[in-house]
Formats: sequence, C-alpha cells, structure tokens
Amino acid sequence: MTYAQVYKSWQDDPEGFWMQAAEAIDWVTKPSRALNADRAPLYEWFTDASINTCWNAVDRHVAADRGKQPAIIHDSPVTGTKHVITYAELQDRVARLAGALKAKGIQKGDRVIIYMPMVPEALEAMLACARLGAIHSVVFGGFAANELAVRIDDCTPKAIIAASCGIEPARVVHYKPLLDAAIDLASHKPDFCVIFQREQEVAKLTPGRDVAWHEFQYGVTPADCTPVEGNHPAYILYTSGTTGAPKGVVRPTAGHLVALNWTMRAIYNVGAGDVFWAASDVGWVVGHSYICYAPLIAGCTTIVYEGKPVGTPDAAAFWRVINEHKVKSFFTAPTALRAIKREDPEGKLVPHLPTLNALYLAGERADPDTIHWAQNHLKVPVVDHWWQTETGYAIAANPLGIERLPVKIGSPTVAMPGFDVQVLDEGGHPVSPGTLGAIAIKLPLPPGTLPTLWNAEERFKKSYLNHFPGYYETGDAGYIDADGYLYIMARTDDVINVAGHRLSTGAMEEVLAGHRDVAECAVIGVADDLKGQSPLGFLCLNKGSNRPHDDIVKECVKLMREKIGPVADFKRAVVVDRLPKTRSGKILRGTMVNIADSKPWKMPATIDDPAILDEITAALQSIGLARG
Ligand code: COA
Ligand code: AMP
Repeated sequence: MTYAQVYKSWQDDPEGFWMQAAEAIDWVTKPSRALNADRAPLYEWFTDASINTCWNAVDRHVAADRGKQPAIIHDSPVTGTKHVITYAELQDRVARLAGALKAKGIQKGDRVIIYMPMVPEALEAMLACARLGAIHSVVFGGFAANELAVRIDDCTPKAIIAASCGIEPARVVHYKPLLDAAIDLASHKPDFCVIFQREQEVAKLTPGRDVAWHEFQYGVTPADCTPVEGNHPAYILYTSGTTGAPKGVVRPTAGHLVALNWTMRAIYNVGAGDVFWAASDVGWVVGHSYICYAPLIAGCTTIVYEGKPVGTPDAAAFWRVINEHKVKSFFTAPTALRAIKREDPEGKLVPHLPTLNALYLAGERADPDTIHWAQNHLKVPVVDHWWQTETGYAIAANPLGIERLPVKIGSPTVAMPGFDVQVLDEGGHPVSPGTLGAIAIKLPLPPGTLPTLWNAEERFKKSYLNHFPGYYETGDAGYIDADGYLYIMARTDDVINVAGHRLSTGAMEEVLAGHRDVAECAVIGVADDLKGQSPLGFLCLNKGSNRPHDDIVKECVKLMREKIGPVADFKRAVVVDRLPKTRSGKILRGTMVNIADSKPWKMPATIDDPAILDEITAALQSIGLARG
C-alpha cells in the first residue's frame, strides 16, 4: 500500500485501523473497542483491555526464543566501556529489580522517580516499574535539585531510583548530593531511594532511607508482570510549559504499546533483530520512546550511548558506533549534526556506513545546510520528522517503511495516520495552503498520546483544548503546502528550543526575578548557529541598586544553573533601564528576538514607548547581537 492508501484507510475507519495495529501486541485481555469517547473532549484508547508493557518489551521476545539476542548495547566512551545485555539477561535483571521494589512495597499505581544517566540500569528501572504497573517519571540529569524537587512534589513518588553520578566529558555530575538537596527542598518525602553506585563515584547512603541497587535485590523473589488496564498511566514525563511549573504529560499504557510498535515498521522500517539507535537521553521523550520502549517492543537491539557527538573522542564517534554495532536506523537531533559538521565540514571523518539505511532528525527544526551535509556524507535518506513530548511519536514524517515520499527540504513531510493536522487562523478556521497559522490536530488524538496532565485536568484543557474547540493546540506555528507537506516554523508560546531541549522562558524569568537586584526581567531565545536557540536575559534593576552590572549578570547565570540546571544553558544577560511593552503591559518579546537576530522588524502599533527599542538595540549590540 502507498502512504496515501494507508492514510486513507485510517481516515475511513480510525478505530479499525488501530484495532488492526493492536493485533501485533500481546494482551492479557483484548480490548472490546478502540476509542473511548465517553468523556469527550477527553479521549482514551483501549480502556477495557488488560496488558503489561514489560511483557511486550521483554518477556515475549524470550518466549519467542530470542532470549540470546542482544536487547541493549551500552556504549560508553566517557567511561571507556561497552556491555551487551541479551533479552534473557534483561528479563532476569528486570524481574529481580521489580521483585526488590515489590518487596519494599511498590505496587501498581505507585509513582517512582528515576534520576539516572545513560546506563542500561535506567532502562531496567523503567521496565521494572512497568512490570509492576508502577508509574515512572524520569528526570533528566542536567536538571538541578530544584527542578527535581518540583517533580517530587507534583507526582509524590513512593521511591526514587538514582545513580551515584553521571559523567559529562568535562566533569562528574554528582547526582547523589542533587538528590539529597531535592528531597530536602520537597514537601513530599519518598519512602526510600535506591542508589546505583557507579565506580567513578561511590555515594554515601543515607541510613534508613537509601538502599544500594545490588544489595537490595539480593535474595528477592523475581516479580511477574502485573496486568494493568489499557488506560493505566505507564509514565509521567515533565515538559516545559509557559510557566515555571512543568507539565506532567501522562502516557497511557495500551495506546503507547500499539502506536510505538506501529511506528517502528511504518516510519523507521525496522523489526525484530535489527539494531536501532536513538542518540538522545532517557530523560527526554525521544529517550523514552526510542531508546527504551519502541525498539524493545519491536524486538530490536537498542543502543544506550553515554557520550557526545563530538569530543568523545572526536566527531567520528557516531559513525564508529553505527559501524561497530551495525545500526540500521539512526535518530538524532539536528544540533548534534551541526556540532559534527562544525568539526568536520567536509565529512572527512565519515566512513562508508554499510548497515545504515536512514537517518531520522527531530527535536527542533532541521535546517537545510544540516540536511544537505548529512545527505552528502552519509549517503542515506535523511528524514526530518516532527513530534512532541505530548504525542510521544511522530505527528509528521516520511514513512520509509510504507513508502519513501519525495523530500522537500525544510518540511518534516506529511501527517501520519492518526493525525488530522490543520493550520488555523486566530478564529479557529482552517486557512488555505501556504498560509501561516497555528498548527492544530483534530480530536481525538491517536493512541499513546497524552490523555491528560498528571493531576491537572483543567490545566490540560486550558493548555491544549480550549483555544480551538475540537482541536489539540500544538503550540507550533507553520503551514501546509498544496501537496499536504507540513512546515513547522516557530512556537506560538514562550517555549524555546536549545540544543534540541525544550525550555520555558517563563521558568527562567521566574528564576531571574528571584535575584535581589532584579525588579523586572525578560528572557528570549536568540538564534544560535550550533544550538538553534540560546537564552538571553534582560534585567531591569531595582531603584537604588548600584552594584556592578557584571557582578549581577554573573550571579544570575549562577542562579539559573543552581535553580534550573546546566541544561538551561543560560550564559548571557544584559542590564537595561526598561522593557518594551504594549500599552496593555505585554512584553514585546517577539520584537526583541527579531532585533537581536538582525531580522527585519516593524514598530509594533501597540508599543507604549518606541524609544525603548533603541535602548534595547544598544544593549544587544554591546554583546555582539543586533548587527543588522
Ligand atoms: N547531565 C548533566 N549535565 C548535562 C547533561 C546531563 N545528562 N547533558 C548536558 N549537560 C550539561 C552539559 O555538560 C553543559 O554543561 P556546561 O554548561 O557545564 O558545559 C550544559 O548541560 C549544556 O549542555 P548541552 O546543551 O548539551 O551543550 P554542550 O555544549 O555540552 O553540547 C551538543 C552541545 C550539540 C554536542 C549537545 O547539545 C548535543 O549532543 N545535543 C543533542 C541533544 C539531543 O540529543 N537532544 C534530545 C532531543 S532529540
Ligand atoms: P519536545 O516536546 O521536547 O520533543 O519538543 C517539541 C517541540 O520541538 C515541538 O513542538 C517543536 O516546536 C519542536 N520540534 C520537534 N521536532 C521538530 C521538527 N522536526 N521540526 C521543527 N520543530 C520541531
């Protein structure tokens, strides 16, 4: 079937389409129906089924006699180690860990936070939770204690599983002190913490609260898979919203299994026995879906890479991993390729890559230069695909496993079955092809996408459903051309994308506002050749503040690192007298971005005092921006 036929088959019978996809999954009790619209506009899929994620990702492959196949390859240039875990070993390890968690009281529905670097034990912890029906929430290692504390208070975990440390090329990330500080800061306290001690740094355990990963598993009875309802939350993953409070995206169990499994063949064109690699981090949605769950559900070998695109040791690291482990499909963020391209512009370090079939890019807009570089040097199709933490898999892609569609550079190609993507004007009316507007998806969203936010149904409705009734609002703006190709151009909210990481300028402003000298502030994302965008702060100081501006800026940079973490990558701020605002008091962030990026801009008709923009321009020029 062609892509058009597959898409039409979904349009003609959406429920039949997903019921058929569900056949590829092992059920304890099959669903009697696909969609549950009883609480529309809140939707669920496969509600009355009974199922277990870990069974589908691990045990069933052992039962199918593929126990000896590698499930996980840990390739860690930062520690100089490599390690293969077969499906049979993974089953043992996960069942034992789940048994130990169960013995300490973890049951179906309990939340467990996982705070770990790129080690196989992170995946094992996720799978052990899934085995018990416990709901995990993985927190990225680049977040500071405060961010971890916010998540602890929101999802109130019974346990936290953490590693003693993570390893960045230039430093050891001390997870344990961060964990201790977060627990001190949080109002909610977990019953216990499991600490995976790494040899690079052995952490001091807190008596009565902490148990060591190996010791607490000693002599336990391995746990079987606990069946859960189809709509049971598999995990919560926090993502940036417009305010400092992150949004807890809920992932429903059955839809997640069905949809991810479908994507592996249709989009990534891989199946059991193939090696699949997503060079991301388990702390992000790409890591959840395509380092952990999807490759394992499909019976592939997944690679857990603990290294960087450059510097571990060089810009050929990705190509070494691909050739050494015979990777068939490879997924990364454009920023990683830009880092490689910067060090190897002519592709001299790229060898022949005989096993590689395609490269997939997501997380941010893939710029044409990067796509051309990859096409020229990797000599495989380069697929830009668009998705979000909320959806968990691609909304738009070039589905190589169905049909290789012609590429239009700058477009993540076409909507995938399940997604009726439309571009709307402010009044919520679809616009004509080629016209820019807000990108929205007609409800219901397909299986596996977020049914709600954790403990925040009203916020879910307000953030995604209320603006355009009958649609899910993606927060992205763009257009669809006459051939149905999508173009994602910008965010419609205050979310910025730094090195493929989604960050909230609102959250950063809350941190800056906490500095004793700062009266008012704004954070914008300015264009960055490597990272796509880079945050920049504007600080208006309290009357009477006469401390050196350099000191205040340095303190703000430090504060951001302490409060949000190194991942915010906040390194620049300027002091200004006033911020440009509309007459109703809204800060004109968009205009400031255009000035900073030396793009053409118009004086906003609603501006309160146009002279402020001259001051802003001068401040930006003082740090090398706004040169146009
Ligand atoms: N734990 C702790 N700290 C982390 C971290 C982690 N897991 N990941 C990143 N950091 C730190 C970095 O060490 C850096 O700290 P520094 O300010 O002390 O140098 C900071 O966070 C910013 O990191 P990053 O944005 O990754 O910048 P970088 O300069 O270290 O590396 C790239 C640049 C392009 C190589 C890197 O951003 C990269 O590989 N990006 C790919 C991103 C990706 O895969 N995103 C997933 C979406 S699909
Ligand atoms: P995250 O939830 O962290 O995955 O970030 C999702 C956001 O990243 C989207 O809403 C887009 O703004 C951006 N994004 C992801 N993939 C793409 C892509 N292929 N092209 C353009 N923007 C993208």
